Amino acid sequence: MSKITAAITALGKYLPENVLTNADLEEMVDTNDEWIVSRTGIKERRILKGSNKGSSFMAIKAGNDLIAKANLDPKEIDLVIVATATPDMQAASTAAYVATQIGATDAFSFDLESACSSFLFGMSVATSYIESKKYSKILLIGSDKNSSMIDYTDRATCIIFGDAAAAVLFEPNTEGLGTQDEILKTNGSGREFLQVPAGGSILPASKETLEKGQHFVYQDGRTVFKNAVFNMADVTTKILERNNLTKDNVTWLAAHQANKRIIEATANRIELDPNKVMMNIHKYGNTTSATLPLLLNDYESQLKKGDTIIFAAFGGGFSWGAIYFKWAYNA
Ligand code: UT7
Repeated sequence: MSKITAAITALGKYLPENVLTNADLEEMVDTNDEWIVSRTGIKERRILKGSNKGSSFMAIKAGNDLIAKANLDPKEIDLVIVATATPDMQAASTAAYVATQIGATDAFSFDLESACSSFLFGMSVATSYIESKKYSKILLIGSDKNSSMIDYTDRATCIIFGDAAAAVLFEPNTEGLGTQDEILKTNGSGREFLQVPAGGSILPASKETLEKGQHFVYQDGRTVFKNAVFNMADVTTKILERNNLTKDNVTWLAAHQANKRIIEATANRIELDPNKVMMNIHKYGNTTSATLPLLLNDYESQLKKGDTIIFAAFGGGFSWGAIYFKWAYNA
């Protein structure tokens, strides 16, 4: 019997309607379009508005979009993984709610959190379950309502993040397509440089934490930037070497959209043609767990069966990695 690999067979997405432009931010904090574009590549981002709407709201929309496009019976889904750094709430599983709402009532589900690497690590988990033949339809959704933890008076963070969700379906493949190899890493000594200090178990929310704004994202941008550039390029180079790939064998680089300069540095390290670098940060900013599946959605019409894609990400923790992947279908 031929080997089973884990391929992506369908995509879906959800983008909130509300657009926050650099011009809007100029009215809110001491910044300007030129600084934001030259330092990050971001022109606008989407913000989820409305009460009682969390990451599940967007995850459900992205899941339903995939289900409709793939003409899938949601009852056939075995597992729903919601990759998110902004779950709806503490304790109650966001994925459980999402799975029920999209009609995946025969599935089990769980949240997966590893900051901006959540979706990449979720790809690894989905791949292992498929390759083990334990489950055959796994819905992996990246969804983050980053605006829920951003201080819109802090110019160091509010210009970067946006809200979005996007979904992929993993299924078994007998042609050797899908996930080929992975290098995944973490280093906990990096957690002081990118975090939301309060609201978790180490510093529960209180009047004092609220007054100090400790429920907002804190980032030491320069330190995170240096670590992101070094580590993303490092694992990307290593995964190419380990698989005897050169820049000519790579069809696409799908890198976490945190900063255009980090993505370009990774591409430069492997001397990749800029036309092979997927980029949509200018439209959405950093959407944390949604960046990689949003790239696939935006580039789906250009992807061809057999294309080699290198996924790469870096995020809080620190956490990072690269996945060597072969695309399984023509749009
Ligand atoms: O997705 C998870 C992982 N996260 C990342 O990968 C993000 C990594 N970091 C970055 O992308 C960049 O560090 C930032 C975009 C956050 C910042 O860019 P930078 O080039 O590292 O700027 P900086 O923090 O070194 O600041 C340079 C200057 C400072 O002024 P001085 O001290 O040189 O006078 C800042 O105060 O720019 C100033 N600055 C701003 N100016 C205008 C910081 N933010 C802004 C702003 N508008 N929004």
